[in-house]
Amino acid sequence: MAAFLPLFLLAVAANAGLLVAPSHGLSQDGLHLLDAKRALTVPAGALEDWNPRDATPCAWTGVSCDDDATGAVTGVSLANANLVGPFPSALCRIPRLASLDLSTNYIGPDVPAKAVAGCKALATLDLSVNSFVGPLPDALAGLPDLVYLSLEGNNFSGSIPDSFGTFRKLESLSLVNNLLGGEVPAFLGAVATLRELNLSYNPFTPGPVPAELGRLAALRVLWLASCNLVGSIPASLGRLGNLTDLDLSTNALTGPIPPEIAGLASAVQIELYNNSLSGPIPKGFGKLTELRSMDVAMNRLDGAIPDDLFEAPKLETLHLYSNALTGAVPESAAKATSLAELRLFANRLNGTLPADLGRNTPLVCLDVSDNSISGEIPRGVCERGELEELLMLNNALIGSIPEGLGRCHRLRRVRLSKNRLDGDVPDAVWGLPHMALLELNDNQLTGEISPVIAGAANMSNLVISNNRLTGSIPSEIGSLAKLYELSADGNMLSGPLPSSLGSLAELGRLVLHNNSLSGQLLRGIHSWKKLSELNLADNGFTGAIPPELGDLPVLNYLDLSGNRLTGQVPIQLENLKLNQFNVSNNQLSGQLPPQYATEAYRSSFLGNPGLCGDIAGLCSDSQGNAGNHSGYVWMIRSIFIFAAVVLVVGVAWFYWRYWSFNKAKLNAERSKWTLTSFHKVSFSEHDILDCLDEDNVIGSGASGKVYKAVLGNGEVVAVKKLWGGSLKKDTENGVDEGSAADNSFDAEVRTLSKIRHKNIVKLLCCCTHDDSKLLVYEYMPNGSLGDVLHSSKAGLLDWSTRYKIALDAAEGLSYLHQDCVPAIVHRDVKSNNILLDAEFSACVADFGVAKVVEAAGRAPKSMSVIAGSCGYIAPEYAYTLRVNEKSDIYSFGVVLLELVTGKPPVDPEFGEKDLVKWVCSTIDQKGVEHVLDSRLDMAFKEEIGRVLNIGLVCASSLPINRPAMRRVVKMLQEVRAEARAKLEPYYYDDTSDQGSSV
Ligand SMILES: *[C@@H]1O[C@H](CO)[C@@H](O)[C@H](O)[C@H]1NC(C)=O
Repeated sequence: MAAFLPLFLLAVAANAGLLVAPSHGLSQDGLHLLDAKRALTVPAGALEDWNPRDATPCAWTGVSCDDDATGAVTGVSLANANLVGPFPSALCRIPRLASLDLSTNYIGPDVPAKAVAGCKALATLDLSVNSFVGPLPDALAGLPDLVYLSLEGNNFSGSIPDSFGTFRKLESLSLVNNLLGGEVPAFLGAVATLRELNLSYNPFTPGPVPAELGRLAALRVLWLASCNLVGSIPASLGRLGNLTDLDLSTNALTGPIPPEIAGLASAVQIELYNNSLSGPIPKGFGKLTELRSMDVAMNRLDGAIPDDLFEAPKLETLHLYSNALTGAVPESAAKATSLAELRLFANRLNGTLPADLGRNTPLVCLDVSDNSISGEIPRGVCERGELEELLMLNNALIGSIPEGLGRCHRLRRVRLSKNRLDGDVPDAVWGLPHMALLELNDNQLTGEISPVIAGAANMSNLVISNNRLTGSIPSEIGSLAKLYELSADGNMLSGPLPSSLGSLAELGRLVLHNNSLSGQLLRGIHSWKKLSELNLADNGFTGAIPPELGDLPVLNYLDLSGNRLTGQVPIQLENLKLNQFNVSNNQLSGQLPPQYATEAYRSSFLGNPGLCGDIAGLCSDSQGNAGNHSGYVWMIRSIFIFAAVVLVVGVAWFYWRYWSFNKAKLNAERSKWTLTSFHKVSFSEHDILDCLDEDNVIGSGASGKVYKAVLGNGEVVAVKKLWGGSLKKDTENGVDEGSAADNSFDAEVRTLSKIRHKNIVKLLCCCTHDDSKLLVYEYMPNGSLGDVLHSSKAGLLDWSTRYKIALDAAEGLSYLHQDCVPAIVHRDVKSNNILLDAEFSACVADFGVAKVVEAAGRAPKSMSVIAGSCGYIAPEYAYTLRVNEKSDIYSFGVVLLELVTGKPPVDPEFGEKDLVKWVCSTIDQKGVEHVLDSRLDMAFKEEIGRVLNIGLVCASSLPINRPAMRRVVKMLQEVRAEARAKLEPYYYDDTSDQGSSV
């Protein structure tokens, strides 16, 4: 088809009155270049200077020529040019082409052997980050001068062919991030010229690191991360005298690290983490004059840390964490002159730290947590002033906190908890300007919280529980605008709560129990919008419980027990949804609020003699002895008679009211619902509730059940009833899941209410009542794409409809990713979440798991919830446990493949594979025709093929290869535009047999 284009262009040009001499001046190389351009879909505006009327192409974008007079083309570089289409074979007819860079485009699916064989002069070939699939092209090994070959970031599959052991001049081979199988082949050890061998991130068959790789004497970089390697590290690698980077991380290697590895004289970086290595770290690393980074964390190494490790003069990063190392941190660590990051946590280290650690060393991060280290914190640990993180929790450290830390202005995180530290906390430590986390709990520290704390503007968590701190809480604490947690329980703090505490808007946890605080509880606490835990138990507080506590929107843990509080329990507390509520052992009096006057809350109120309610044990003998005997009998009788009358009347009344009873109850129940609407709606919460009948269920998912609701006025809406959240309390860290669910619901609703886009399902309103939550959406009469596509109704979806759906959904997602601020990650993109309206326009739905992507740093914790549905989850999720836009794009790629193949994302037919792998391997083994949905009209084959390619790029295993959604939209639009442009000239010439790009 591509050959029609020039004729068409010619016709247009002629009509426009331009007289074109058909390129008789242009060199043959130039003609080949134009041929190549024609075979590709080039975005509008690109390569415009490739002008057929030039005599030579040497000035064209991306083209370079020989310096001599012949003007032969020697280089073509079209990286990152948004090119779509097949490998431009015409380029290989340029006889002296030595360098070809087509990286980061959408070229594929195969590298034609015949064409490649023609590229005889090639020295450099870069096809990385494209849409190639199928086996690695054997023909490449036949190129006699090839020096640099990069095929990384495609979806090549199958084993590395034997021919790859026969390269004669190859210095750099990168196959990173493909779908290669078979074992890492030993024959690569025969490519003696190799300086760089990068095979990381391929699903190879489990196999050893071939000892033969030790023969690659010129090797500088050996990168075999995540290659399914098993067995031990071959000693032969120690012979690689020029090796600078060795990365065998994230495999299943076992056995000891061979001592020979410590003899890699040129090593700069050694990464062996995430394996199952054992034994000690071999001595000799210290002699490595080039070593800058060594990461052997997360293995099973034991034995002592070798002394000489720190003698490596350039060593900057040393990670030995999560092993079984024993003994002390060697004295030599204090002499390391470049060491900035030392992470030794989670080992079995003991002894004392080198006394001079940090005096000569530009330490930025020191983490020795979770060991059994004793002795003092080295006095000069921050002498160089670079320290940002000092993490030593859970050891047996003694002595005081060094004064010098108070001058350590870059400190951000200090965790010294669970040691045996004593002495006063140095004044200046309280007020360090960058400190975000100061955790000193469970020591024996003394002194007062200094007023200089006013300077700690970044403090978010101040955890000083279980020490011997005295004095009062300074009012300066009110200037810590970012303070989230103040935990100072188990000290000897005294005096009143400073009223400035009430203005801390970020405060989530205020835990001060077990001190000697006194005075009245704070009023004016309206800023505490985020406070979820308030524990002031076992102090000497007096006065009344402030009714304002009932207004705190997310409070769920309230403990005021063991004080001297007086007055009533304010009725406002009924507004709270408390998991823990304790006001026992005070001097409260009066009637309990009705909601709390039940047996369930009994223990919440014990030990308040004046408090009355219907709970046994409260008010027990406060009025019993007053009356005489006859009065007592009279009282019993009247109660008896009264009860009998009540019984008779009650029974009659019961029958009288029986039929309306349920109705009344229902109405009472309903009146508690609140409706918050985001669009103009013409219905009430009652209309909605009437429709929640099991007969009306139209779907059910991870987050809830969906009902179709036909309202009184004829309007139809979809109502999603969220599953009730559990109120289980996580005792370990005090995080409450119930309130987390509440918060995420509020977040979801807030997010959704802001979104107005034609391809996003509209949220009309939400109704809430205690734990029940309903979301009311516009109704989409054609259901979900998944339901239609994978049922007998699939016939409704012809190619044009499917194409439109793909584009609509892409636009919806692109809006979420790129137009919403902050960006919204859907987290569960799948065909069942793409809904179809009456005209089969598509809308993206169900943000059940969508979260607003917070500023970096806050995200990871909330993002660690498993996200997505089977068959749609991006492969990197398995090891990153992170979800971002790129994971959505992967899932969207799967949806595109569903549209093109008509197959579901997982299917018994695929065996072990999912749809993505099935498509790749079927194309590879049988050809593209075998993956396309046979129900589609093959007149659109080219268009379908292009959408297939876009799907494959989106579902590429390496996240960086996946184009952003906005680009996906653009590519999808171009598919149509191209198809139109190509259909037009069809009438001028239908004899051509060239260049289908499918
Ligand atoms: C190792 O590197 C040195 C210095 O760059 C070089 O002279 C030598 O030839 C290299 N060794 C091999 C076997 O390539």
